[in-house]
Amino acid sequence: MNERILSENFRQRYGRTPQVIARAPGRIEFIGNHTDYNGGAVIGAAIDRYVWVAAAPANAPGRLRFASGLDGQAVELPAANTTKLSGAEAWINYPRGVWQSLRDFNLPAPDAFDLLVGSDLPTGAGLSSSAALELATALALLDLTGVPAPAPATLAAIGRHAENIHVGVPCGILDQGTSAFGRAGQLVHIDCRGPAFYLLPLPSDVSLWVFNTLEKHALVDGLYSTRHRECQDAATALGATWLTEVAPADFNARAAGLPPKTAARARHVIEENERVAAVVRALGTGDLQTVGALLAASHRSSRDLFENSTPTLDSLVELLTAAPGVYGARLTGGGFGGAVMALTDRSFTAARAADIAAQHAARGHPRPEIIELHTADGARLLPRP
Ligand code: GLA
Repeated sequence: MNERILSENFRQRYGRTPQVIARAPGRIEFIGNHTDYNGGAVIGAAIDRYVWVAAAPANAPGRLRFASGLDGQAVELPAANTTKLSGAEAWINYPRGVWQSLRDFNLPAPDAFDLLVGSDLPTGAGLSSSAALELATALALLDLTGVPAPAPATLAAIGRHAENIHVGVPCGILDQGTSAFGRAGQLVHIDCRGPAFYLLPLPSDVSLWVFNTLEKHALVDGLYSTRHRECQDAATALGATWLTEVAPADFNARAAGLPPKTAARARHVIEENERVAAVVRALGTGDLQTVGALLAASHRSSRDLFENSTPTLDSLVELLTAAPGVYGARLTGGGFGGAVMALTDRSFTAARAADIAAQHAARGHPRPEIIELHTADGARLLPRP
């Protein structure tokens, strides 16, 4: 996919050229698992896999049209009807939710448009195709109204609002913040309570890999919301607004008074937040062995305490962790399926990655999709093709 192909697809679908094309990257969660909505810190990286949105104003007041790819029919919705869509049309809740969010943010939103989505980012892999769709849509729709692109923090807030309020997933700011602030060669470090966003250089002699298990993870399916609620219950039981306010020593002194599951969820979040800080320090001194050990510890904690891993994710992490050239590997994103990321040195090649996929398949798991990633720049409007 690229902007030329999307523009041509738009012309075939809607009979005219798009007025605007915007593009937003997916992301990996480097470390900071379920810390974001608990007021903690997280490190992500925007990746060179994207969602593109092409749009044009329509001369039919109150008519919104949405299409994805070339084969799907455009779905036409009256602007006045904001009933949630399900099944094959459920993806439209995201761009339409963004359109609704623009008004919630007192920004102008076009009252009739045609929109087409293209992507080379796998969906359901925990690589934030939803956030990328939200951000590219926001940029495209605002451009149609003649409003300059908002600051990245505002763009991220609009996307998150759309997902929280209009789609109904209680996500934090990791995905949208990383897709908005990403920069090639950099990690995005977010203090989610502000939120405040910082760039953190990624050492140049490492590689990032994703192994997509092809087990679909779907945040709207409910397990994500369950964990969100469990974390809130834990914070309430500990008398805190945010779980990450509780100092580890204080938590250790009080953990025995909590129901075991509640204590396990809370321990994961509180210790994971400490690991994020430790990764920032280790990156600062170039200590990649320590970074790798922290990634591995993060995965163990997801597996044992937060229980958002799966046997398939665990198998890949185990194989990767034992492989030469790998600093560390962990599940990336919400969990319950999706993908594993690995931080490696440059001796780790596509052939070695394929070998790991083969060993994983020999254990009876589906053969994963392997993607060697590069960090990328954040969401932006593209020059018209
Ligand atoms: C998903 C959510 C994020 C974050 C991660 C888990 O990606 O969208 O906000 O909570 O899961 O860290």
